[in-house]
Amino acid sequence: MTCTVLMGAQWGDEGKGKVTDILSEGCDAVVRFQGGNNAGHTIVVGGQVFKLHIVPSGVLRENGLAVIGDGCVVDPWVLDQELSGLESKGISTSNVVISDRAHLIMPYHKLLDGLQEEAREGSGKVGTTGRGVGPCYQDRAGRFGIRAGDLRFPKLLEEKVSSGCIRANNLMSSMGGNAKVDPAAVLKDIQKVREKLLPMVRDAPALLGQLLDEGKQVLLEGAQGAFLDIDRGTYPYVTSSSCSAGNASSGSGIGLMEIDRIVGVVKAYTTRVGEGPFPTELVNEIGGRMREKGREYGTTTNRPRRCGWLDLVMVRSAVRWNSMTELALTKIDVLSGIDPLMVCTEYMVPRDVSELHGTGTILRHFPSHIELLSSCKPVLKRMKGWKELSADDWQAARGIGDLPREMRDYIALIEEQVLSNVSIVSYGPARDETMLLSGDGA
Ligand code: IMP
Repeated sequence: MTCTVLMGAQWGDEGKGKVTDILSEGCDAVVRFQGGNNAGHTIVVGGQVFKLHIVPSGVLRENGLAVIGDGCVVDPWVLDQELSGLESKGISTSNVVISDRAHLIMPYHKLLDGLQEEAREGSGKVGTTGRGVGPCYQDRAGRFGIRAGDLRFPKLLEEKVSSGCIRANNLMSSMGGNAKVDPAAVLKDIQKVREKLLPMVRDAPALLGQLLDEGKQVLLEGAQGAFLDIDRGTYPYVTSSSCSAGNASSGSGIGLMEIDRIVGVVKAYTTRVGEGPFPTELVNEIGGRMREKGREYGTTTNRPRRCGWLDLVMVRSAVRWNSMTELALTKIDVLSGIDPLMVCTEYMVPRDVSELHGTGTILRHFPSHIELLSSCKPVLKRMKGWKELSADDWQAARGIGDLPREMRDYIALIEEQVLSNVSIVSYGPARDETMLLSGDGA
C-alpha cells in the first residue's frame, strides 16, 4: 500500500483522529486535504490528550511529514497557536508543511461567518463552527483568496490584504453589520506569524510526488464526513468543502491512480452537530446516555452532539460514493450495556419514490434532498445488546472470535448491509484500545 485515504462515513466526529494516528504508523507523510480549523481531532498518546484542529494528526509521529494540503483553508494565527501548544508539550513541529496553494482564513472571514449565520433566519441557520471556513472558501471560488504562497511576496500580500479588508468591510456594512477590519492592523498581525510559518510553506504536490516516486507511504486524512460534503451532504446543512474521497486527490495534488486504499471511519452509532434532519436521532435517555458515555461534545465548539442509532443507509451510500475498501468501526464500547440495540437498514418514505431509485416507499440509499430526508422514517432492525466489557476483557480479546457474540453480530450486520469489511475496531481513545481484524471473520 502506498497511498491510503481515511475519511468519515457519517456527519463527522467519527473518531478519525485516532484512526489516523493508528494508520500513520510507518507513514512518510500524513496529509490533510480539505477543511480548516472547523475540524477537531482528539488523539491520546501515552496518557497525553492532543486536540488538533488544523495540524494533521501525523505531527505526533516522529518520522513523517504532517502536510496541510492544497484543498485546506488555514487560519495562520490558529495554526501558530496550535504549533506552540504542541511544542510546549514536547512535540516537534519541524515536520509540518503548509501547501503554498492552501488559502488563508483572514479575520474578516470569521466576522462574515457570523453575519451570514445571522442572515440565515430561524431554521435556515447552518450552525457553522464560526471559524470563517465558509467565507474563506467563498473567496477561493470568487478568485479573491489569499494563499499561503502569497506570504512569500510581501508587496503582493499587502495589496491582497488591503483589498480583502476593503471588500469585506463593504460586504459587512451591506449586510447591516457594524464591524470593520483595519487593513493596517491585519497586516501588522500577519507579519507576526509570517516569519514562523514561511519556512513551512512548500509546493506540496511536488513534494508528495517526489515521496511517491521514492516508494514512500502517504496517508490522506479527511476532515468532517461524507454527509457534510458540499455536494452529497444534507445541503445546505453541510460544510463548504468536499469531504469525499475524490477530493483526497484534488485537495492534495496526488493523482487518483496513486490511491490504493480508502478507509471509511464509522462510529458505532450516529452523531451530528449543528442543524439539519437526522432520521435516527434519539431525543431520549438512550441518546443522552450515548452523549455522556461517548463524551459527545464538539472538540471545536464544545456544543453537545445530537446522538442516535447507527444509520446504515448513510454508511451504505458513503461506501458506494467513495469506493471505501474497508471500514474502521469506532466507539463500540459506548454501546455496551444498551439492550436492545436498533440499527437503521432502510428508510420508509410516505410516498412512492420509485422515480428516485427507491422501491415503492422504501429507500436504501441516502436521498439528495433534505425535504425528502425529513420525511424519512428509519426501518429499524432490533439487535441484542452486549454486557459491559472490563479493560481486562478487552485486553484478553486477541481477535474478533473473542468478542461477545452479540457484538460480532452487530459487526456482521454492518458488513452485510453495506458490503464492506470492518478491518479495525476501536474501543477507547488510546492507541492500544484498538483491534485489527483479519477480515476473514477469524
Ligand atoms: P462550518 O464547516 O464551520 O462552515 O460548519 C458547517 C456545518 O458543518 C455545521 O453543521 C458544523 O457543525 C459542521 N461541521 C464542521 N466541521 C465539523 C467537524 O469537524 N465535525 C462535525 N461537524 C462539523
